[in-house]
Amino acid sequence: MSHTLRASRTAVLVCQGRAAADGLIAPGRFADPTAMPLLRPTERAAVQWVRDGAVPRQWQQRVDYETVRANAELIVPRTVAIDDAIRAHPSPQLVILGAGLDGRAWRMPELAGVTVFEVDQPATQQDKRDRAEGLPGTPPTFVPVDFGRDRLAEALAASGHRADRATTWVWEGVVPYLTTAEVAATATALAACSAPDSRLIVNFQAPGTSTTLGRVLARLLMASTGRSSVWAKEPWRSTWTPTAMAALLHQHGYAVTRDENLFDTARALATPMRHPRSLGHSRVMVADRV
Ligand SMILES: C[S@@+](CC[C@H](N)C(=O)[O-])C[C@H]1O[C@@H](n2cnc3c(N)ncnc32)[C@H](O)[C@@H]1O
Repeated sequence: MSHTLRASRTAVLVCQGRAAADGLIAPGRFADPTAMPLLRPTERAAVQWVRDGAVPRQWQQRVDYETVRANAELIVPRTVAIDDAIRAHPSPQLVILGAGLDGRAWRMPELAGVTVFEVDQPATQQDKRDRAEGLPGTPPTFVPVDFGRDRLAEALAASGHRADRATTWVWEGVVPYLTTAEVAATATALAACSAPDSRLIVNFQAPGTSTTLGRVLARLLMASTGRSSVWAKEPWRSTWTPTAMAALLHQHGYAVTRDENLFDTARALATPMRHPRSLGHSRVMVADRV
């Protein structure tokens, strides 16, 4: 979604997934009480249907219900894998790249005392700031950056990020929306301000026919309700094999310490899996700066 003036709709979708799952899927391992408050009232209806298990009869509502339910199943293992990697390696700074409606800054008690920065495309970030006004807790430092256009390292430095102190970077649900060149440029930029002992947690999509077909189907379903598809404006632009992603990170001084696919994570958590193949193509890789 490079160079857009509109707030990201995929950020709303994943937030709806977190709100639908909160307290219901993998209780004890997953919770996100910030998700529902971050949604607008009209965005909460489909979340409530999923929470209540109330399958709507009307087609348009049914498509919304299925979309939110699928997102809830994807987002729980993804969140757990990333939260675990953050907790396991405390850093004085956390930078969330393409933060969308991520509530971690407010949600995670482990981040008390950590300087949290949220980087996002300006329109999405402004929308987040409006929505987050009532959230209890300390807000992060907001840094508006478009990865396809702006200079990440300079923008962070101007907002108080210290390149001489370790940083944990969270790059969740963003890589598919960037071109290969934008991903590489962002890796170069973050590596330039990664002190020793920094950690990078990156979620990306491995290539796979079933995932592509799944997205085509999701687009067709949305089109059948007469509304424009979220993914028409925010198409996937790059997929990465684990080998290619590890090579990119290695090139920037990061050594991979963990790489998991979300099918395995979901199975370990015993969470529902109606789309096991698409879970299997979504990966979370953890790499540490040596
Ligand atoms: C699917 S949302 C994920 C949001 C969040 N990380 C999460 O997992 O809840 C994709 C996010 O990537 C951001 N994004 C996409 N392209 C971007 C770009 N070129 N520059 C900055 N942010 C971008 C969007 O604004 C949006 O917040």
